[in-house]
Amino acid sequence: MSKAKSISVIGLGAMGTALAGALIDTGNTVTVWNRTPARADALAARGASRAETVTEAIAASDVVILCLTDYPAVDATLADLGAAMAGKTIVNLTNGRPDEVRAIAARLGEQGARYLDGGIMATPPMIGTPHAFILYSGDRAAFEDAEALLATFGQSHYLGEDPTLAAVSDLALLSAMYGLFGGYLHATALAGSVGFTAKQFLPLVEPWLAAMMTALPDYAERIDSGEHARDVMSNLQMQSVAISNIVAASRSQGIDPAFMEPIERLAKKRLAAGFGNDEASGIIEAMRGK
Ligand SMILES: NC(=O)c1ccc[n+]([C@@H]2O[C@H](COP(=O)([O-])OP(=O)(O)OC[C@H]3O[C@@H](n4cnc5c(N)ncnc54)[C@H](OP(=O)(O)O)[C@@H]3O)[C@@H](O)[C@H]2O)c1
Repeated sequence: MSKAKSISVIGLGAMGTALAGALIDTGNTVTVWNRTPARADALAARGASRAETVTEAIAASDVVILCLTDYPAVDATLADLGAAMAGKTIVNLTNGRPDEVRAIAARLGEQGARYLDGGIMATPPMIGTPHAFILYSGDRAAFEDAEALLATFGQSHYLGEDPTLAAVSDLALLSAMYGLFGGYLHATALAGSVGFTAKQFLPLVEPWLAAMMTALPDYAERIDSGEHARDVMSNLQMQSVAISNIVAASRSQGIDPAFMEPIERLAKKRLAAGFGNDEASGIIEAMRGK
């Protein structure tokens, strides 16, 4: 496919504006629509065509990008547009759940559209740089046809035909991110209870987290093999003492231990099941209900 294409972007919040901007900057013909029309002004000044209605935005291009707050917003935006969808490739980059993805994929499929779901692993300023990566799943031929266009946003990872793959992987990656940020915030609050400012604590917490990230390949190996008891260096019995100390010390220091309590509960569940000599990677089995 040639590089310059016609594409519509529906939803011009922080992310939709970045996506449309990247498409304009790479020479594509871009049509935009937003519920609040004023949000299209800056993009129109950069060369985008402004659609007056959603129907007009969809009619303008074969590939339509959706980037809205949530799936109810997508449903509200696409309601009553059945006939307009035939032959279109809809790329929905809105954060959502697998049940929501299944429902919209089925509905748009019945309306004759090709559906791609996506998860954006980037912030708006990262769009169009090599640091952004975007997960896609759904109609394979639609992805292959739009691949060059979608590469405008960053690295594309097509995960497979099941349309829910991107959304679940997106939520999984965000879960890792919130775990990291939540842990950092809890740590900084606890260190702050004895007088450290966040900036003073940063030179300790940043290299510590970087060092701990190197454990992930070993954890992945253990998780896939189920061998949490092999070559144990930091057993769960020992680690659970530290985890419970974190919860108790947080409380006595006036810090809400809510972020750490679930991991304490899961570690105790695993200990009670007799896995105290295992590596802490085995906590995943407690998460899986085993
Ligand atoms: N920003 C990020 O860092 C980031 C990163 C990765 C993924 N994402 C994903 O990108 C998507 C959009 O995020 P954003 O940051 O662009 O959010 P945002 O700045 O809050 O913009 C939300 C967009 O949704 C529209 N919208 C909300 N409810 C609507 C409705 N009922 N009908 C029609 N339009 C509606 C808004 O229109 P109005 O202007 O009319 O309110 C606006 O265009 C989300 O799913 C988010 O998870 C964002």
